Amino acid sequence: MSLHGRLVAQIEAIVGRHDEPAIYSGDPGDPGLAGGPGSISWEIHADLATLFVAGTAAILMELAHPSVMAGVFEQSSYRTKPEQRARNTLGYILRTTFGTTRAATRVIESVRAIHERIRGTRPDGIPYHAGDPELLAWVHTCIPWAVMTAYDRYTRRLSTEEKDRYLREQAVIGRMGGATWVPESVAQLDDYVRRMRPHLAINEQTVSFVDFISGNGELVVGRAEKVQRWLTLHASMSLMPAWAQRLFGTQLPGVVERALLRPSDRLGIRVVRYAIPELLCVQLARSRATHVVVEPTGTHRLSLVR
Ligand code: HEM
Repeated sequence: MSLHGRLVAQIEAIVGRHDEPAIYSGDPGDPGLAGGPGSISWEIHADLATLFVAGTAAILMELAHPSVMAGVFEQSSYRTKPEQRARNTLGYILRTTFGTTRAATRVIESVRAIHERIRGTRPDGIPYHAGDPELLAWVHTCIPWAVMTAYDRYTRRLSTEEKDRYLREQAVIGRMGGATWVPESVAQLDDYVRRMRPHLAINEQTVSFVDFISGNGELVVGRAEKVQRWLTLHASMSLMPAWAQRLFGTQLPGVVERALLRPSDRLGIRVVRYAIPELLCVQLARSRATHVVVEPTGTHRLSLVR
């Protein structure tokens, strides 16, 4: 098998293929939930490399909320099926962005049903429910926050107007997922994160989770992979504010970030883009959303449904 073929196979083994016609095709002209071909969401989420780089930071910031950490620690299969968890989480982002309106709505409703069943008590005695709109808002927000920061840093500078538009597009999905309010602008995001900081903390469960994804826990990995996981975690967290890096103990001197973390991310981004320049779901969705209908008279009409 060629180098390219091996790389594609390795990446798809981790993230999945995401080429289901039942999700991404059909319904000619349907733009889906996130704004369609001209949206910032389509531009950013079409870039698998950006989702790769931002993924760990998004998950760790979600888990910085002790209620979310308790729910995942006690009721998630991340220890036994880590890659399936990663595929499902990525799949959620791709399906709600590029899926048909019907398929995306179905995915959101099925995940809502899973969350409805997830209840318990944190180690400090506070009850949690994954269907809680406040918790859903926090988990939702961490994803576009990390993803747009990565895209802005490694692909192209986004204007505040573009970031606002992206957050507004993603807010539709956040509310359908059960959050009553999510930030729809950079100003609202900054204010919301400031208000959430007192609720965030690292506890034994978070330390155990970070050990697990670092290959220092139940998951035994070789030395080279441990180094790779250390780089991935520290590079991803370098997208987050200094206070968040201090919270997780991943803060490093600026010179190390510039000389090691960012180049490592850039190399990873180049490898992913070389292997998978465009996800199949994006191609399927684009041809669906820009479906051209040939009128019997021979004229062409763009059938975009707005
Ligand atoms: C908008 C916010 C959220 C999104 C987008 C999200 C996304 C997901 C997705 C895609 C799944 C996978 C379903 C599957 O296996 O097919 C899932 C499962 C799960 N979520 Fe969430 N989630 C959110 C909020 C939360 C919150 C607030 C909690 C905890 C308090 C939580 C805890 C869990 C747990 C424990 C599972 C089951 C995982 C497993 O079966 O391994 N989630 N979530």
